[in-house]
Amino acid sequence: MQNKEKLTKEFELLKQIKRDKLPFHIAIIMDGNGRWARKRGLPRIAGHKKGMDTLIEMVTCAHELGIRALSLYAFSTENWKRPSLEVEFLMRLPEEYLKKELARLMEKNIKIRAAGDLSQLPQRTRDAMEKALIETAGNTGMVLNFAVNYGARSEIVRAFKKILSLVQEGRYQEDDITEELLSRHLYTSNLPDPDLLIRPSGEVRISNFMLWQLAYTELWFTKTLWPDFKREHFYRAIVDYQGRERRFGSIKKKVRSSI
Ligand code: FPP
Repeated sequence: MQNKEKLTKEFELLKQIKRDKLPFHIAIIMDGNGRWARKRGLPRIAGHKKGMDTLIEMVTCAHELGIRALSLYAFSTENWKRPSLEVEFLMRLPEEYLKKELARLMEKNIKIRAAGDLSQLPQRTRDAMEKALIETAGNTGMVLNFAVNYGARSEIVRAFKKILSLVQEGRYQEDDITEELLSRHLYTSNLPDPDLLIRPSGEVRISNFMLWQLAYTELWFTKTLWPDFKREHFYRAIVDYQGRERRFGSIKKKVRSSI
């Protein structure tokens, strides 16, 4: 697409976004880096490199729009099964990203959070992430939540074990165990559930991402691969989201008034 045509399309979509109905929390499964590289005869890591450029652009875009929380699935507990060279490359990305972007994130008042077991990460990756968590802890703007070494099932088991130990200590009774209590023991504690989940690359599944938190999230899929994902796609996802009626298991308002 020509640059001018692309900008016009972007602008048209941007104009359609209702600023008073923005999703509070958007989650993204960044997928398709490997296929993007393969299509170009490049090694998979070239796709991850390009994927990081998209990540930087989407953080800027979400921040400019006024999105309050952005969760990005960067590395799953299953991704360790990949070839070691690819895993090593992926493990270097958080450090590289933070070296390049931390000052800008501070300027934008963005607070970094992490979801996942950081204790299993290589020391350098862990240090870089922990430094960013500490430095941005006082920021009050958009929350940028990186899911690294994250798996939703293990997150739920971890929360369950934590609650069980608190019950055994006598801090909670059986009746205290509620959905709200479990939510508070997930990595996303105090963060509202995502309103919108975006998954690029044509895969239509959740892949062990925020299984608990996505219960009533609106899902949006595109065949575009993550390295090709642009503002236009982000805006389109929000416009589509704003056109949906979220009923949270209830019924349409109109139907309710006719009963
Ligand atoms: C999935 O594509 C993508 C990943 C496993 C890695 C995504 C990570 C980044 C874009 C950067 C992370 C950066 C920070 C700062 C944490 P895939 O490899 O599964 O693609 P494929 O399905 O086409 O093979």
